[in-house]
Amino acid sequence: MTAAPLTAGCLFSGMGGFAAGLAAAGFDIQWANDNDPHACAAFRRRFPNVQLIEQDVRTLAGESLGQVDLLAAGFPCQSFSQAGSRLGFNDPRGGLFFEIPRLLGEMNAKPRVVLLENVPHLMYGADGAWFDTVRRELRGAGYWFHESACWTVNVKDATDLPQDRERLFMAAALREYFAYNPFSPPLPRTNGRIHLDAIIDRSAPGDPAAYLPSDNRYYRMIERTMDRGESKRNIYQLRRSYVREKKDGLCPTLTANMGVGGHNVPFVRDQWGIRRLSVAEVAQFQGFEPAELPADVQEHEQYRLLGNAVCVKLAQLAATACASALHAEERR
Ligand SMILES: C[S@@+](CC[C@H](N)C(=O)[O-])C[C@H]1O[C@@H](n2cnc3c(N)ncnc32)[C@H](O)[C@@H]1O
Repeated sequence: MTAAPLTAGCLFSGMGGFAAGLAAAGFDIQWANDNDPHACAAFRRRFPNVQLIEQDVRTLAGESLGQVDLLAAGFPCQSFSQAGSRLGFNDPRGGLFFEIPRLLGEMNAKPRVVLLENVPHLMYGADGAWFDTVRRELRGAGYWFHESACWTVNVKDATDLPQDRERLFMAAALREYFAYNPFSPPLPRTNGRIHLDAIIDRSAPGDPAAYLPSDNRYYRMIERTMDRGESKRNIYQLRRSYVREKKDGLCPTLTANMGVGGHNVPFVRDQWGIRRLSVAEVAQFQGFEPAELPADVQEHEQYRLLGNAVCVKLAQLAATACASALHAEERR
């Protein structure tokens, strides 16, 4: 007899990075929730058969959510990021975390595993008080949860994708079901890394609108740094007052503020000029297929959604570790 497929639900589902990783790890996605119309449009395109509840998580009733083996939640991270407000749970966006234990308390049957994703600084910020809060809330909701079930990982080290992007995954195991928390972080990658040139398409001119006009006030600054740079095939990023070359064959962390304006998208040079990375290239650095993006979502929104997304391949690794723990427990 073959075991029934494992099931998952996603809170803060965005355009579906977590969901795509879970699906690749063999989970059947039962439902998802997000309140951003653009994120929901992108999610629907990728997962047309998943029940997508497009509403504010604060208005969701846990009793209405279907039973699942795993609940995934990549809750908003701006308030916990070193580059963000650092207001933590005092920021209304940071406070959305509390919706997770609330919903767990209301659900008719609790998921056996809860898998959270955020920025690594969540573990250390406010002298550890943020992490203490997460631990207290998850334990209070009926889960085994400890630092050993947390995985701080960089996309460049754990996957074959050449992006420098550090994230934190945290897995909690239902006390009623597990005798202890069986989550163990995935092993380091052993395969090679995809070359930047395999993602950056210099074979043909990009979208004319992606090229920086030579009279743009940043053009000379970017061009000069590129001229002096280690490699003309590297990716360059405009910081507040300088241009940074990303070395070692990597793409810098792709962030949601790419959607705010053209200059937040990293630049590359090709024979036609200096241009922004295209949406299709950014998608690949995050582990998405370019075709997964809906054409009717505006380009700046697509950049924002991609920058906000959980890297699909990282999510897949974390989800696979959870699936192994669930299957091992079923065999006991
Ligand atoms: C970091 S992104 C999540 C990325 C996503 N987990 C993934 O797998 O790619 C955070 C998400 O939380 C959503 N969000 C923010 N406030 C919300 C709210 N009040 N209710 C529901 N979703 C919300 C945002 O729209 C955004 O998509």
